Amino acid sequence: LHIAVLMGGWSAERAVSLSSGAGIADALESLGHRVTRIDMDRDVAARLAEAAPDLVFNALHGSPGEDGSIQGLMDIMGLRYTHSGLATSVIAIDKVLTKQALVPHGVPMPGGRIVATEDLYTADPLPRPYVLKPVNEGSSVGVAIVTAEGNYGNPISREAKGPWQEFDELLAEPYIRGRELTTAVLGERALGVTELRPKSGWYDYDAKYTDGLTDHIFPAPVPDEISEACMALALHAHQLLGCKGCSRADFRWDDERGVDGLFLLEVNTQPGMTPLSLVPEQARHLGISYPELVQAIVDEALK
Ligand code: DAL
Ligand code: MG
Repeated sequence: LHIAVLMGGWSAERAVSLSSGAGIADALESLGHRVTRIDMDRDVAARLAEAAPDLVFNALHGSPGEDGSIQGLMDIMGLRYTHSGLATSVIAIDKVLTKQALVPHGVPMPGGRIVATEDLYTADPLPRPYVLKPVNEGSSVGVAIVTAEGNYGNPISREAKGPWQEFDELLAEPYIRGRELTTAVLGERALGVTELRPKSGWYDYDAKYTDGLTDHIFPAPVPDEISEACMALALHAHQLLGCKGCSRADFRWDDERGVDGLFLLEVNTQPGMTPLSLVPEQARHLGISYPELVQAIVDEALK
C-alpha cells in the first residue's frame, strides 16, 4: 500500500508525535509499504492531495490531529485513515464531553468543574487535594496537582507560575490517591493492564517520555477484579465513544477503596507510539511486535 504518515503539527505534543510518526513510518517501510512522511502544516490538504495515498496513518497527537479537525478534512477529501473518526475525536479530546458521554452509562469517572484560570487566585475550585488540567491537551501538558499542604501557595499564587498559566480555563477534578493504571484496546480486544510507578513525583510529561524515570509493570500487580474492571471499562468506553482501531484508557485506582476506588480519567484516541509508549509495550507483552501492531492498526482502518 501507499501510506501517508501524518505527524508533527503544532500542538504541545509535536515532539511526541514526531517520535510516534518516525517509528510508525519505519515499521511500515519494513513491512514493504510505500510511505510518504508528512509533517503537518497549514498546507496539509494540498500535501495529502498530491500524495494521493491509499491510506493515511494518523500519528498526530493533540489538536488538530486528535480533535476531529483532521478527521473532517480527510472525510471531505475521501481519504481513508487510521484510528477514530470525526465525532468520536471531538468528544474524546474534551475531558468534559467525555464525562458527559460516559458517566450516564455507568462508567466511573471523577467529578469535576470548569474554572476560569483567573479565579484560581482567589479561591480553590474544590477541596484540596485536586488536579487542574486543560480540557483538551494530552501527555499531561498543563496539568498540576494542588496538594493539601498548598504547594502553589495558599491561596494559589500567580507568582507560582503553575503549568496552567497558558490556559484561560481549566478542569478541576478531585485528586484520586493511589495507583496509575492503563489499558490499551486494539480492535475489539483489551490488551491488559499496566501500572505506572514514577520513581519520584507523579506521571507527568518528563516521567512519561524520559527513559528510566518510571517503572512500567505488566501485568499490573492488582487484584483480578481490578484488572478485569479496567479491561471491561476500557472496552466499554471504546465502544460507547465509537472509537476505531486503537485507543488507550487511563485510570486512577484508590487501593484503599477496592473496586469502588477505580476511576477512568480519559480515553486517548491517538495513543502514543513512541519507544516509551504503553500501547506498543502491552502489545509486545502479548507477543505482538511493533510492526505487527502497526499493521494491525492499518488492517483495522481498511475493514
Ligand atoms: N497523548 C499521548 C500521546 C498519549 O495518550 O499517549
Ligand atoms: Mg491523554
